Amino acid sequence: MDGADRSLSPGGGIIDRLDDVTPAVLRAMSGAGDKRLRELLDALVRHLHAFARETRLTEQEFEFGIEFLNRIGKATHASHNEGVLFSDAIGLSTLVCMMNNGNAGATETASALLGPFWRANSPHTENGSSIVRSPTPGPELFVDCVVVDPAGKPIEGVEVDVWQSSPIGLYENQDETQADMNLRGKFTTDARGRFSFRSVKPAGYPVPTDGPVGDMLRAQRRHPYRPAHMHFLGFKPGFKTLITQIFVDDDQYLESDVVFGVTRALVGDYSRHDGGTPPAEGVGAPWYTLTHRFVMEPGDAILPKPPIE
Ligand code: BEZ
Ligand code: FE
Repeated sequence: MDGADRSLSPGGGIIDRLDDVTPAVLRAMSGAGDKRLRELLDALVRHLHAFARETRLTEQEFEFGIEFLNRIGKATHASHNEGVLFSDAIGLSTLVCMMNNGNAGATETASALLGPFWRANSPHTENGSSIVRSPTPGPELFVDCVVVDPAGKPIEGVEVDVWQSSPIGLYENQDETQADMNLRGKFTTDARGRFSFRSVKPAGYPVPTDGPVGDMLRAQRRHPYRPAHMHFLGFKPGFKTLITQIFVDDDQYLESDVVFGVTRALVGDYSRHDGGTPPAEGVGAPWYTLTHRFVMEPGDAILPKPPIE
């Protein structure tokens, strides 16, 4: 016995020249027991090696890239996820979203990227109630939505998480002046597939720019803004979890969302009301209404891992 563990890969072999490197790595990795893991890592190595060859990557640039990845890790903590932000800012999140929804990108999808600000355990809230949990000045918004299946039949019992920024563009986890879980809530659709709530009109906001993603945006001369939107996550066993955002239709950043989240299907119907009878006592003009119809596809009800705690 030579003591070698014969279940391990034999390795890639001794490298003689540049062209030996990629095949050697692929050979060394070819023993992965999980077929999908093998496929993913094989493609990742081939594409990364091709990237280095195509760009003739210098040692200084390579060092910079590794340091950039390390900085993404260091900037991530319980209430901030720089990794998600980076994937969003280079369009990878939207690409993966579109490939996995809307018949693999063949048809329009109602889905959008999750973003870094979804929190699990939003407070259960009665239909028609408010998600304003601490004083939040801004135009009042009345949201009335329906969730249907692809045949247009209302779906009862969908748990719908909603979360949004305040009228000054901050989520409660970014703003000490807001109560915990302000502008977040979890609703359940009724027998007509409907859910409704009161809130304030969200504002557009800059994504966090104090980390490596901010450095990248500045180097690329890109603005950091997202158009105003409201997030929705619909969950019911038997249906593919619907993760989406509905954008304010007159926002100046609709055409240049820093994270590429705006598709035509997601531009919402936020109507401004300057007169007439307000929907509730004490509501002053202008107030806004948002109505929307969400379609949930049959599929697996898998919840994403919350990006923050
Ligand atoms: C958001 O919509 O909450 C978001 C998405 C991507 C990056 C930053 C924020
Ligand atoms: Fe958002």
